[in-house]
Amino acid sequence: MELKRIVGHEAAKLVQDGDVVGLGTGSTTHYFIKKLGERVKEEEIEIMGIPTSYQSFFLANESGIPITTLNEHDVDIAVDGADEVDPDLNLIKGGGAAHTMEKIVDGSAARFVVIVDSSKMVNQLGSIPVPVEVLPEALRVVQRRIEIMEGAPSLRMAERKDGPVVTDNGNFVLDVAFEEIGNPWDLEVELNSIPGVVENGIFTGLADEVLVGTEGKVESFKRI
Ligand code: 5RP
Repeated sequence: MELKRIVGHEAAKLVQDGDVVGLGTGSTTHYFIKKLGERVKEEEIEIMGIPTSYQSFFLANESGIPITTLNEHDVDIAVDGADEVDPDLNLIKGGGAAHTMEKIVDGSAARFVVIVDSSKMVNQLGSIPVPVEVLPEALRVVQRRIEIMEGAPSLRMAERKDGPVVTDNGNFVLDVAFEEIGNPWDLEVELNSIPGVVENGIFTGLADEVLVGTEGKVESFKRI
């Protein structure tokens, strides 16, 4: 938690007066959003946030960050967490089932900064399953198509609710394990080409910078 806190606070320094900010989802962005709220109060910076989930919407509200939407404003900087980051700054996201809105907001930002603790850095994506958001009506046919691609899909089940996780968009999530992800871009495109798939959690070529919390300090990796 300490590494998530320092990296979240570091990212809050990147936001400038007047910015429209994409607000990511998860326990790392929690610290970012809280710190940003403090800057709004203490430094009186005028910013607006575009949340990527109900979680970040409620937290932004609570923290005093004015909210807007993508239909009204462009995003100057988006800050979001990740579940895995490879050396090319490709990501797996969706641990919080928010990857569809995250990809829309993060992908539209002029600058997309990822914040993680060092445990998220990997040599190759794929030691965790890839989250895939699916229209409920398409669940069975999508599962079958994924199995043909040699993925092992598992329907994400809810905790403290009977039945599956239902996303902020009213859909299900399949967590798909692959033996190996040779080419993340190809897999991202192939998964999204299955009718009924809303979005998957592979983010290739989107991150501009990754801030990594490592033993009390923050390291920065930029896309070349
Ligand atoms: C939510 C996400 C999160 O950003 C990702 O799961 C990282 O979360 P955390 O900061 O809690 O480790 O993609 O859909």
